[in-house]
Amino acid sequence: MDSLEQLVASAVQDFDAAKDDAAALENAKAKYLGKTGQITELMKGLGKLDPDAKKAQGALINAAKQQIEAALTARRDALAEAQLQARLNAEAIDVSLPGRGRAGGGIHPVMRTWERVEEIFRSIGFDVADGPEIETDWTNFTALNSPENHPARSMQDTFYIEGNDSQGKPLLLRTHTSPMQVRYARSHTPPIKVIAPGRTYRVDSDATHSPMFHQVEGLWIAENISFADLKGVYLNFVKAFFETDDLQVRFRPSYFPFTEPSAEIDIAFGSGPLKGRWLEVSGSGQVHPNVVRNFGLDPEKFIGFAFGSGLERLTMLRYGINDLRLFYEGDLRFLKQFN
Ligand code: PHE
Repeated sequence: MDSLEQLVASAVQDFDAAKDDAAALENAKAKYLGKTGQITELMKGLGKLDPDAKKAQGALINAAKQQIEAALTARRDALAEAQLQARLNAEAIDVSLPGRGRAGGGIHPVMRTWERVEEIFRSIGFDVADGPEIETDWTNFTALNSPENHPARSMQDTFYIEGNDSQGKPLLLRTHTSPMQVRYARSHTPPIKVIAPGRTYRVDSDATHSPMFHQVEGLWIAENISFADLKGVYLNFVKAFFETDDLQVRFRPSYFPFTEPSAEIDIAFGSGPLKGRWLEVSGSGQVHPNVVRNFGLDPEKFIGFAFGSGLERLTMLRYGINDLRLFYEGDLRFLKQFN
């Protein structure tokens, strides 16, 4: 009797000693209930007893066995439960933490200008065209009346690409959106009325110049489009763009190989921090007859104007930004102000 109770007690102790290791528990089980386990051995010994003693002793051993089995099951369950708890703790999700979410994106201020310019020109019937940033020498320069070795080419120093075009001339990153005049005019019939916004490149880098920048080209060619139309269209544009009628536009004589006469377009606000200062926003002019010829059109019949405006410039004036490099530093403190 005593020894059976001790046996049960020592089994419970062994089971408890088995921690998170399933094998330890199985070993402990074998020690009592296995083929040569202590309970099994006791059962085997019953055969030597007389029937009455066998019955009494058998019942006691069985009761002990059941206790041991119950203790084993309880320990197994406890270990499984502990293991589950440990896993739950390790994989816990702290629902009180703030969500990570997805940061809301925003439109870059220059892109905002780009979209705005498209909207304004579409509203007065201009088509919007897109063209390649890698250009041929012919389209970027020669067709625009800048022959090879002409000094006017040095106004637009640029990046050349390895490899040549079909005429054996080097490919380059376009220095302005003006090649789009040629591409568009050669693939459309007059009246031609288009803007072409896009990226442009020059070997330039300071507070007002970036090696990559944006322009919007404008071109209107028909049988009777004059400088007066340029003035009207551009005045309408800047008034719509800056959301004010309180500004003046001035055409200052200038030189571009592809226009004649040529002019820089300056604007002056009637109020605000820039009040009264003339600010250059665009090159422009009446398209040169040689260029009209390169469009594949007769310059005696077709005439019109072109302009090329800097999108960064327009953006800086609209928002009062004084350093163009801010656009390209990717500083969220700057960018967030526009969204
Ligand atoms: N392409 C010129 C520039 O980048 C601007 C321009 C465009 C001037 C069209 C006249 C006509 O400086």
